[in-house]
Amino acid sequence: MQDYQVFLEEVLIPAEELQNRIAQLGKEISEDYQEKNLHLICILRGGVLFLADLMRHIDLPHTIDFMAVSSYGSGARQSTGQVRIALDLKEDIHDRDVLLVEDIVDSGYTVASVLEMLATRHPRSLKVCTLLDKAERREIEVPIHYRGFTIPNKFVFGYGLDLDEYYRNLSFIGTVNPKKYQPPE
Ligand code: IMP
Ligand code: MG
Repeated sequence: MQDYQVFLEEVLIPAEELQNRIAQLGKEISEDYQEKNLHLICILRGGVLFLADLMRHIDLPHTIDFMAVSSYGSGARQSTGQVRIALDLKEDIHDRDVLLVEDIVDSGYTVASVLEMLATRHPRSLKVCTLLDKAERREIEVPIHYRGFTIPNKFVFGYGLDLDEYYRNLSFIGTVNPKKYQPPE
């Protein structure tokens, strides 16, 4: 496996900046969800690090659950529209104040489809919190209630986001120099 230093173009968001912003988001969410029945739903796998850090800044009783989705079609880096559930939630969301926690909103198809599926299960409320928003790439409108950072149209990795499934463990968000990156065999 290549050392990320080889293909790292730029540290787009350093670890400290991520942590500071996540603390602010946690504070906002804590204020907004007082007296509510907050239930965080994390979309696997990219959102895991974000969820784990965010929930430590949410100063309210809350619950969590996970779901995994996959896009129809191949193209791993390009969503194609509809997504299907690969791993469903463990718990019922009826009457809960659901906050969807995502790593990145790119074309918007993933979050749009997940919102549509969750809405049919009648949560009391349904909102979206994304760490990253690649706004220029949006193809379908999605409501974003909490946004960490708006980023340029570049492929990023680290802090939960993968490059061919690796490098999720890095504590910063970096951009890739495609000329220097060699995918695993
Ligand atoms: P969307 O359906 O196009 O909004 O894509 C969302 C999914 O694509 C995210 O949940 C990520 O898994 C993946 N994705 C989009 N952009 C990037 C990126 O720059 N790096 C890593 N994964 C990405
Ligand atoms: Mg993802």
